[in-house]
Amino acid sequence: MGAEIPRSFIQVTVVLLLTAVIALIGQVIYNICFHPISKYPGPLLRAAFSLPALLENFAGSSVSNIHALHKQYGSVVRIAPDTLSFSTAQAWKVSDDINHARIRKLLSHAFSDVALKEQTSIVASHIDEFMRQVQMRSSANKKNKVDINAWFNYLAYDIIADLSFGEPLGALKHGQPSMYINEFFKACRTWPMIPLAHEFTLVNLLFRGLMKIPAVRKNQETTYLATMESVDKRMNNDNLERKDFMTYILHHNDKNVLSSAEIAGCTTVLVNGGGEAVASCLSATMFLLLKNPDIHARTMAEVRGLLNLEQTLDFEAVSRLVYLNAVVEESLRVCPPAPGNFARRTNIDTEIDGHVVPPDISVGVHQWSANHSLQNFYQPDQFVPERWLANAPPEYHNDIKGAMQPWSSGPRNCLGKRLAYMEIRMTLARLLWLFNMELSPESDGWLEKQTYNIIWNRTPLYIRVLPRDLSQQGSRPKAKMAFTSYKHTYPLENSNESTRLQNQHEVIKDAMGGLILAPIDLKSSPLRILDSGTADGTWIRDFAASVAPVQHNLYGTDLNPAEFPSDVPPGTVYQAQDVNQPWPQDWEGTFDLVHQRLVLVAAGPKQKDALLSLCGLVKPGGWIQLIEATNKLPDGCGPNMVAFVDLMKAIFVNLGADLDLAERMPEWLKEAGFVDVNFVDIATKMGATNPKTELAQRGVISSSIAANGLAQFGKNLPAGALTIPAEKLETLGSDLREELKEMGALYPLRVVWARKPL
Ligand code: HEM
Repeated sequence: MGAEIPRSFIQVTVVLLLTAVIALIGQVIYNICFHPISKYPGPLLRAAFSLPALLENFAGSSVSNIHALHKQYGSVVRIAPDTLSFSTAQAWKVSDDINHARIRKLLSHAFSDVALKEQTSIVASHIDEFMRQVQMRSSANKKNKVDINAWFNYLAYDIIADLSFGEPLGALKHGQPSMYINEFFKACRTWPMIPLAHEFTLVNLLFRGLMKIPAVRKNQETTYLATMESVDKRMNNDNLERKDFMTYILHHNDKNVLSSAEIAGCTTVLVNGGGEAVASCLSATMFLLLKNPDIHARTMAEVRGLLNLEQTLDFEAVSRLVYLNAVVEESLRVCPPAPGNFARRTNIDTEIDGHVVPPDISVGVHQWSANHSLQNFYQPDQFVPERWLANAPPEYHNDIKGAMQPWSSGPRNCLGKRLAYMEIRMTLARLLWLFNMELSPESDGWLEKQTYNIIWNRTPLYIRVLPRDLSQQGSRPKAKMAFTSYKHTYPLENSNESTRLQNQHEVIKDAMGGLILAPIDLKSSPLRILDSGTADGTWIRDFAASVAPVQHNLYGTDLNPAEFPSDVPPGTVYQAQDVNQPWPQDWEGTFDLVHQRLVLVAAGPKQKDALLSLCGLVKPGGWIQLIEATNKLPDGCGPNMVAFVDLMKAIFVNLGADLDLAERMPEWLKEAGFVDVNFVDIATKMGATNPKTELAQRGVISSSIAANGLAQFGKNLPAGALTIPAEKLETLGSDLREELKEMGALYPLRVVWARKPL
């Protein structure tokens, strides 16, 4: 006979169970009838229990479930006892905390305009490698098939790791997800357990138990430990020539605002958030394009008609592709990488979209529901890029665009937005330029199959990729013709050009001791100032900052408008102009100051005419300031610097330029009737000759990029034009870089300024 269970034990158990049941019923009644948000619409089960909301994250069904609830209950739904989900534009209202603001302030330096420019060439180099790999892998199988979703993962993570750790993960090179990517995706599957463990003691105990199993713990910790290790390695490496996220974070962290552990924590967010979201957007956009042949054809025609191969890696040029940008915008609406609720907890009574929400309630806009709501968008489930165009068809005029916030809004919105746009647009433009693509039949319903818990669980997306026949490239549409003469006269067009120009700008400014040597009163406002050959507007921006708060009317012109900045402040105008062509008539005699730097040499045989035309733009009493290279190196420069300048001279001569133009400029100005003609010869200090470390490095960067670019151009010079051995072209850039680091060099320029008499 077994031992009898004591009556008292049974009684205690019954009492405990009864108490638990009564407490639960009490809680349920409270949640349904008396909770501060009990009046909000939603299913009773969700009002009573948090379990349905927590479990759907495991099942990956939260996006479709909450969307269905919004369709049924309207723009605000109670999706859990203490959680409200909104789907309107007005509801994008968030709170912030001081700790977050502290971290964000420091991180934001890594996403500034300057940082973005620095990052362009790093991004471009990975996109180049991506294209090579896609072409190779697709041609290696009979059906020319690739899982483009996997390759987008490799690309986005390699880029973001390179920017965060100073080196990529090697996923593109090996054609395999690195351990880092694999472990992160695995860990994401168990993350929905964390809120469950917070809510239920039993789950908490189970979770803690699971974490004692070495394999489970390893899976959770691997990504973080790998990040810590890489961050540590990067923080101890200050020899990096190019600038990555860490350069900016460490530079501004001199007062140790963030600890190393906090930096590692932020980097985990950067790498995983930045990598995953970009890959997700690229996959969705590719699917939507290939599913809609008309839209695909229109996007392809735009890219192929307006850009050439190099420009597909030029962010400014790509960002001007209006239809491609509309495609990306529409993809972010139809399939946002972060489709859920960006939940925030209220700490006081908070008005959201006309509702006063009490404290301690989790609130957020459900991105997917907002984007797919008929209240916000006409035909919300259709993929219609045209709705984002300035001349959108009338039926889309009432779309409430502000309801869609793929980057979130307010003080926690995405810091990497512009970097992400750069990666996405450049990758798509290049793919569309290089390849003809179509969806493989097995991926026909790809988008509908995706589930979401903390990230999209993206399955393989198979597409067929065939290299485009580039032999017909001669028949370019007319829109491109404006750039053809430019290719002959400007040998340095490539994705690093902006980096080169900015570094060069700082070195020249340092050698001149400022930007303007002409004695013009810049404090009396507003003057009309022209920067001819402005490229990416670096000079204009720096000039505007140097004279602030005075605001002059600034004009930047260049033969190639692709470099113009996309953000143009009021008072600044950028306009395409060839210095060898007549200037707009109404500009004649109107400028207080005309500035031009290192442009005249590219005017070829018509340098003097170009200078005289510029003079015509100056108003009586106004000034002109010109800067050109003397093309005469001082003694003591290293052999690579000599070879570099010889190469430049060969190219200038080939363009028909007069190498002595710097010396001739004062005379030409006098001939034009200018007075107070002055000049000064300055020596820009490159590399080791510059005592200021940062400027020394800038000189190395700008010169080696220029040498690389000119070496490429030099290969196409006619036989006999080169004065240096052809094989030297292969290594000139890197040899010069090393030489400048070690011994430096002086590169002489002449600054000339003169006044037009009254
Ligand atoms: C298509 C690509 C991307 C999308 C759709 C996206 C979206 C978002 C969203 C919705 C948030 C706000 C999250 C919240 O409110 O809780 C966010 C935050 C953030 N994103 Fe992105 N992101 C993308 C790419 C990137 C990239 C490439 C980076 C660069 C590393 C990045 C860095 C960040 C950072 C640092 C934050 C946190 C900002 C803060 O808390 O102050 N994102 N992102």
